[in-house]
Amino acid sequence: MDKRFTILQIDSSARMENSVSRKLTAQLTQQLASQHTYAIVKERILSDMIFLSEAMVEGMFTPIEKRTPEQIESLHFSDFLVEELKQADALVIGLPNYNFGIPASLKAYIDLITRSNVTFKHTAEGFFGLLPDKPVYIVITSGSTALYGPKDFISDYMKFILSFIGLNNVTFIDASKVHTDRDGIINNALQAIGQIELNMLAM
Ligand SMILES: Cc1cc2nc3c(=O)[nH]c(=O)nc-3n(C[C@H](O)[C@H](O)[C@H](O)COP(=O)(O)O)c2cc1C
Repeated sequence: MDKRFTILQIDSSARMENSVSRKLTAQLTQQLASQHTYAIVKERILSDMIFLSEAMVEGMFTPIEKRTPEQIESLHFSDFLVEELKQADALVIGLPNYNFGIPASLKAYIDLITRSNVTFKHTAEGFFGLLPDKPVYIVITSGSTALYGPKDFISDYMKFILSFIGLNNVTFIDASKVHTDRDGIINNALQAIGQIELNMLAM
């Protein structure tokens, strides 16, 4: 019997209606869901993100039994996001290039899920990611900056930070340079999505 399969979709475009990345992540999520009898789709809304506070940072680096009530309380949302991430079987991320970086809302999310001794740990051999590995699909959009080109500062960063917390199985869907030929870029990306076979690792 097919087991439940949870897809966590995380869109970081500020646009709701005219977003290229949202259009593509919706298609990708639908395709992944259609491959499973018991697919569950969860959406993480990034406009809910908060920035790290002093209590959160101090709490993150204090052993649980020594945390103050304020520190414990301040980390509830971060704990929830980490748990949600652990439970997911696949991630679908929509990532527009904003000012040669990732959107601030996505960075705020990353700051909440990158937790010492929770999603990564430091060992004598170096850092070690603690999340159970799962496929991560990232749709990258941009106006004119080419994915993997000399001004692309986001794909390497995403690959690195995800592997830092244990997610080593990242696939990029290229929807960059939409200002050159929006329809053509979207069609190529839809074709690439159509060819994605869900990685057996998560099944
Ligand atoms: C605030 C902002 C900053 C942007 N900065 C860049 C950039 O540095 N390089 C680039 O190629 N495109 C840039 N763009 C263009 C977007 O990446 C492009 O419009 C993309 O389609 C946005 O994704 P979306 O359609 O899902 O919203 C920027 C757009 C916005 C709104």
